[in-house]
Amino acid sequence: MDPMIFSPTARVTPFSLKIPPRIIFGTGSVSRLPEAMHRRGRHPLLVLGGRSFGSSDHFAALTTNMGRFGLCWEKIYIAGEPSPTMIDGIVADLAGSGIDLVVAIGGGAALDAGKAISAMLVEGGPVSRFLEGLGDTSPSGRRLPFIAVPTTAGTGSEATANAVLSEVGETGFKKSLRHDNFLPDLALVDPCLTLSCPPALTLSCAMDCFSQLVEGYLSTRASAITDALAWEGLGAIGRSLTAVIRDGGDLAARCDLAYAALLSGIVLANAGLGTVHGLASIIGGRVAIPHGLVCGKLMAPANRLTLARLRDTDDSHPALSKYAALGRLFRPEEERNDAGYQEAFIAFLDRLNSLLPLPSHSRGGLDPQQIARIASKADNKNNPVPLSLAELTTLLALLLA
Ligand SMILES: [Fe+2]
Repeated sequence: MDPMIFSPTARVTPFSLKIPPRIIFGTGSVSRLPEAMHRRGRHPLLVLGGRSFGSSDHFAALTTNMGRFGLCWEKIYIAGEPSPTMIDGIVADLAGSGIDLVVAIGGGAALDAGKAISAMLVEGGPVSRFLEGLGDTSPSGRRLPFIAVPTTAGTGSEATANAVLSEVGETGFKKSLRHDNFLPDLALVDPCLTLSCPPALTLSCAMDCFSQLVEGYLSTRASAITDALAWEGLGAIGRSLTAVIRDGGDLAARCDLAYAALLSGIVLANAGLGTVHGLASIIGGRVAIPHGLVCGKLMAPANRLTLARLRDTDDSHPALSKYAALGRLFRPEEERNDAGYQEAFIAFLDRLNSLLPLPSHSRGGLDPQQIARIASKADNKNNPVPLSLAELTTLLALLLA
């Protein structure tokens, strides 16, 4: 890797880094899960995503080994993205169960549900009291031990301190239950578990992870260390995105994507995100389009507007050098100047956009006034430059009109 491509203007400024205290990554590493569970509890709750994992050879081997360690487990399945009502119901059902450890194995929804359950089994509900921007108090941070085992390469929830809960509908929302203590005690990432992830879900999850890495890299809260981690993740995606879409059985490519997703979680937990995720959290409460697809569809138009705004307002802004670096990474074919590489990155995002299906029936069908009202609640998060209300409205209309 050419260091000049990576970070032409970087300076090491003060930073702090929150990461899970233990990360195990590698093919076959799920075999280490029973021992890791045994160290942390005796009566684990398994929080599973799709039923396919529960009927897989992986699960059969896992439960056999859990039995050898004397673990007495219970299991639940999470259908769809977790809502506050779902979490409260599960926690009520588990009252008096003696569960002393929560292990989530699945996609982002299962991991977020497990994270929230591990907290609320100790804190007590209702969970909506503790949601950012919705509740009236903050969580204490007390929780049961929690292990996160992703089976998709997307949200990076295995490395974040928040659980996203959502309600879809007229007053829908996506809000976080967040506390630094909610970082999993162990993030166990076995890329083999992602091999059975179907193509459409693989693509949507990859778009989530890609957008998180790009937004964290460009974020106003980025540091030298989050830049390094984001760059590492982006390189892994650049190497393997095409390969994993072409052949979901390509284990080396699956490893790259699982690695990128883990890194995207660390990056977003420490550097924050940008306008795309600010809008995605609002759209996700309104229409049932997969989060990764929403992010993927917004990346090109949102970054085109951000780049234009940066050029208009501050032609020495560090994010401009980063846009050029992204162009060199993803479109290295032609020799260009910085402005040319910035454009090349936007063209790359346009091409990704064209690969993403978006069924028209899944759109919101809202009128311009409704969209403007929703846009007024949107958040630019840590975008390198905030977009205006009119620009946010235009972006929202792409998916809600
Ligand atoms: Fe995301």
